[in-house]
Amino acid sequence: MVSFTVYKGSKDGSIVKSSTSKSDLKGDQVLLRVTASGVCGTDEHYRRQDMVLGHEGCGVVEAVGPAVRHLKKGDRVGWGYEHDSCGTCDWCLSGRETFCPERAMYGFADLDQGSFATHAVWKETFLFPLPGELTDEEAAPLMCGGATVFNALHMYDIQPTSRVGVIGIGGLGHLAIQFAAKMGCDVVSFSGTDSKKEEAMKLGAKEFFATKGVKELNIGKKVDCLLVTTSAQPDWNLYLPLMAPDSVIFPLSVAGGDFKVPYMPLILSGIRIQGSIVAPRLIHRQMLEFAARNGIKPIMMKFPMNEAGITKAMKTLNDGEMRYRGVLVPEQKA
Ligand SMILES: NC(=O)c1ccc[n+]([C@@H]2O[C@H](COP(=O)([O-])OP(=O)(O)OC[C@H]3O[C@@H](n4cnc5c(N)ncnc54)[C@H](OP(=O)(O)O)[C@@H]3O)[C@@H](O)[C@H]2O)c1
Ligand SMILES: [Zn+2]
Ligand SMILES: [Zn+2]
Repeated sequence: MVSFTVYKGSKDGSIVKSSTSKSDLKGDQVLLRVTASGVCGTDEHYRRQDMVLGHEGCGVVEAVGPAVRHLKKGDRVGWGYEHDSCGTCDWCLSGRETFCPERAMYGFADLDQGSFATHAVWKETFLFPLPGELTDEEAAPLMCGGATVFNALHMYDIQPTSRVGVIGIGGLGHLAIQFAAKMGCDVVSFSGTDSKKEEAMKLGAKEFFATKGVKELNIGKKVDCLLVTTSAQPDWNLYLPLMAPDSVIFPLSVAGGDFKVPYMPLILSGIRIQGSIVAPRLIHRQMLEFAARNGIKPIMMKFPMNEAGITKAMKTLNDGEMRYRGVLVPEQKA
């Protein structure tokens, strides 16, 4: 039996310290000591739920179950949004286990543990060894944010010749700019104000447009692909005129309410809207290799892994002050 500290959401939105106990490790279970956790916009959506928060985890293996085959004590690994899948359905067999009907995902399964914690127990098959080029803190934001934006670009075959728009320069957006730029794409970034312009250009954007209060954008050549990484849905009337014929929009934001979009421009220009979630494991692994090889790293602000640190990190995110991903680290390292 092992017990560890976890941090949960609650009805009034305050962060609650609690503990979780797990029986002795079975099968391919791995006990990890959490060394870093990203704070994703999606954690905010679950903040009022009675569940352990955090799904951008990195840690060190402390113990392994009897059927663990590859990992050993001391190995550095990360994990993300998905913790298990059936392994036998069409989706699992075709390497798209993120669509498995029996998928175990953050917010729906394993609510007693997450990456806002001192430890966690996960299946070996859903853990990712970390490349030596990335520290645990650098790798953590890649486990959801990085995987999500890389997946959209990679799974749906965006070409190096594509002109790629990225709306919202937050946790996801600042990684999307880097991934698309390193893939060779021509990156156009959109942000509320000019305050993130310099950083966006340093990260690889070729062009930058501030959008607050703007009724019309003139960006010259239209974009072939638009990654929407804002925390709320954008004004589609502003962005649809920027879409090239036969282009694709990835509305990655998780926002309440229906998805409402003017549809005549979609028909007239053959614009596709492509739903996309985090990456299945093969693409996640390729994302880590690509990031390591190309020097893609998050820009981060660190906070201690305790109630006050998590509360402060989430406030910083909500206030629009995060540059660009909050990372929680164990108290002694903070
Ligand atoms: N589909 C998926 O699988 C998936 C995975 C992870 C996250 N998500 C979702 O993706 C979104 C972004 O996550 P994140 O962690 O990158 O969040 P984030 O760090 O808060 O970034 C969101 C960005 O949106 C812009 N923004 C903030 N408030 C806004 C508002 N009221 N209206 C329009 N734009 C606003 C800001 O960019 P500027 O200052 O540049 O305008 C902000 O930096 C969230 O909704 C999250 O739940 C989806
Ligand atoms: Zn996330
Ligand atoms: Zn399956």
